[in-house]
Amino acid sequence: PHLSRAAGAAPIPYGAAVRAGALASDPTYRAAVAAMCEIIVPEGEMKWSDIHPKRGEYRFENADALVDFARQNRIEIRGHTLAWYGALPAWTSEFANGAEAERELVDHIETVVSRYRGTVPSWDVVNEPLADWPQDRFSLRPSIWMNRLGPEYLPIAFKATASADPDAKLVLNEYDVEYHGARFEARRKALIQLLRWLRDRDVPLHAVGLQAHLFAGRTIDRDGLQALLAEIVALKLDVLITELDVVDKDLPGKIGERDALVAAMAAQFLDACCEVVRPKAILTWGLTDRYTWVPTFFKRADGMPNRPLPLDAEFKPKPLFDVIEEYR
Ligand code: XIL
Repeated sequence: PHLSRAAGAAPIPYGAAVRAGALASDPTYRAAVAAMCEIIVPEGEMKWSDIHPKRGEYRFENADALVDFARQNRIEIRGHTLAWYGALPAWTSEFANGAEAERELVDHIETVVSRYRGTVPSWDVVNEPLADWPQDRFSLRPSIWMNRLGPEYLPIAFKATASADPDAKLVLNEYDVEYHGARFEARRKALIQLLRWLRDRDVPLHAVGLQAHLFAGRTIDRDGLQALLAEIVALKLDVLITELDVVDKDLPGKIGERDALVAAMAAQFLDACCEVVRPKAILTWGLTDRYTWVPTFFKRADGMPNRPLPLDAEFKPKPLFDVIEEYR
């Protein structure tokens, strides 16, 4: 069951992470993205290593190309991401001290966010802040930011984003909060504590992004996930599904069967979410199995291509596509 759409209300906007290179080289992909997405998000083009590869040197070409593509096709574009442990260029490891780290973080956010002010209405400001298996709200993932600034790096990043674009929706994006098990429970608990800490300190934050990198074959902890979402709602924060895909690493090879199990996994997740809250958007991490990060990390042992996304490699809609349609 899910909260049904009010009569006449628009469906939840659907979108996908996209790649500037593929948009430029693959007209079929470009047409599919333009036809199907109401929102796009750069898969890598706005990360530090892409956009700020050297100290004092920004490269905006690819991010700009995506912003232009979005504008030309009247698609919304989200920003991803400003403070993350990953995709950091080598020069960020040379910060001499906390003051320098803070200055560079704030500078970066001011430069990038003001450049796209008015065109990028929503930012994943902080990505994946929780430690892998957190003990409390301050057990955050080690990163250059955490190591240099401690948990303060979150308020610093959110405030810098709000000051660079007071109208932007600011999102804290996190993963691995939906399944059974002590680690997932610890992550849900730590996330709630972290959100309360940010709220108590008046940190500008508007939404929580659930990445939803799902794994077919596991079972969603429906009660745990719904309790988390209820807490998020109680804190008056919106919810976005930001990076949905379904890892099919351990599923049988037969494609029909595999696609059905992938779709069923997403249905289990969306059903739990949508009974508690109407997400502001549902984005998948890629649109087509032709372009997906999944094989880099979760290659199948049988050598068959992964099928984690709504469209297959030939752009044919799969059962996962229908599931997303159903819950919008
Ligand atoms: C991934 C990209 O898809 C890959 O191409 C890249 O090599 C590594 O990053 N969570 C996130 C995304 O927030 O930024 C990650 O994207 C996938 C996991």
